[in-house]
Amino acid sequence: MENVQAVKQRFGIIGNDPGLNRAVEKAVQVAPTDISVLVTGESGVGKESIPKIIHSLSHRKHGKYIAVNCGAIPEGTIDSELFGHEKGAFTGATTTRSGYFEVADGGTIFLDEVGELPLPTQVRLLRVLETGEFLKVGSSKAQKTDVRIVAATNVNFAEAIEKGKFREDLYYRLSTVEIALPPLRKRHEDIHLLFRKFASDFAQKYKMPTIRLDDSAVSLLLQYKWGGNIRQLRNIAEQISVLEQNRTISFETLKSYLPDVGSNLPAVINNKKADSDFSNEREILYKVLFDMQRDVNDLKKLTMELMKSGNASEVKEENATLINKIYSEETDHEAQLASFAPEAESPQAYNVE
Ligand SMILES: Nc1ncnc2c1ncn2[C@@H]1O[C@H](COP(=O)(O)OP(=O)(O)OP(=O)(O)O)[C@@H](O)[C@H]1O
Ligand SMILES: [Mg+2]
Repeated sequence: MENVQAVKQRFGIIGNDPGLNRAVEKAVQVAPTDISVLVTGESGVGKESIPKIIHSLSHRKHGKYIAVNCGAIPEGTIDSELFGHEKGAFTGATTTRSGYFEVADGGTIFLDEVGELPLPTQVRLLRVLETGEFLKVGSSKAQKTDVRIVAATNVNFAEAIEKGKFREDLYYRLSTVEIALPPLRKRHEDIHLLFRKFASDFAQKYKMPTIRLDDSAVSLLLQYKWGGNIRQLRNIAEQISVLEQNRTISFETLKSYLPDVGSNLPAVINNKKADSDFSNEREILYKVLFDMQRDVNDLKKLTMELMKSGNASEVKEENATLINKIYSEETDHEAQLASFAPEAESPQAYNVE
């Protein structure tokens, strides 16, 4: 069996935390089987490496590996994306199309954000998991496929099941083996290691000397909650690498890059700076950017639906909630951006959360 350290190296996984090692070891162990695997863990913990390890170490490694972000595909098109459709199955279906389950026959499908799957799609997925058969949208002829499923989620399934948003039978079918990745704040030994790795990568990328943290900055790094996990740590390492002239980073400097230090470090620091300081301004810009990104994603979904269906009023009707959400939020962004302008008077405008 492949050695865990070698696998980590091959897939660029940094860290020696026992929870992380156990997760990689489990991936190596289940890889040769066809067992369905559910990867769980908070956002940004590195879930996407696990299905890649499983596929590459399985007998399917020469077959296709398809990663599907279930949360990013509009509800109206997801069945057709996954299972394909017959010509004429719906307006705009001018040709017969193969879905991922047909294309990936003999390979692996990674269903990322599987908790976002709509209920009717969950029924189709359960069927394919249980019988190896599926129906194209608009067809009554069952087709066979041989696909291994690895799914991932950062949502709490117990809650989703209780609320009726996720089928319990499908959950058990998907999670024959569960691989849980620990949050970064619980991987104490790895935090500084990862930071040093990212600092060195960014120094190389931007052709600048590597930043290093002084002792007090290291202790802040270790105590921070890292809600966005490794993705957030990497992002902070990049910002500091690019922006700081003095390459030895102090506690105060690091703190100015960490959003919500107060609420993320309740026991240590609680002296949030004045409302108009730099860290708050950055938070606002981040929030605006994140909101805009979400709107762009929503708009992409809508455009895709319009292109596929070609029937504007139908799409409008089916997506009334989404349309309402996008257009009613417009004013929020404007208000936030206006509050960011230097002449902004109201300190409340900086209260993002
Ligand atoms: N152990 C690690 N070593 C190096 N880089 C890592 C490690 N874990 C994660 N990363 C990096 O962190 C980022 C986030 O990882 P990934 O996209 O796999 O998160 P995720 O768990 O899928 O999050 P989400 O639920 O938000 O999709 C990626 O850029 C990934 O390369
Ligand atoms: Mg992911």
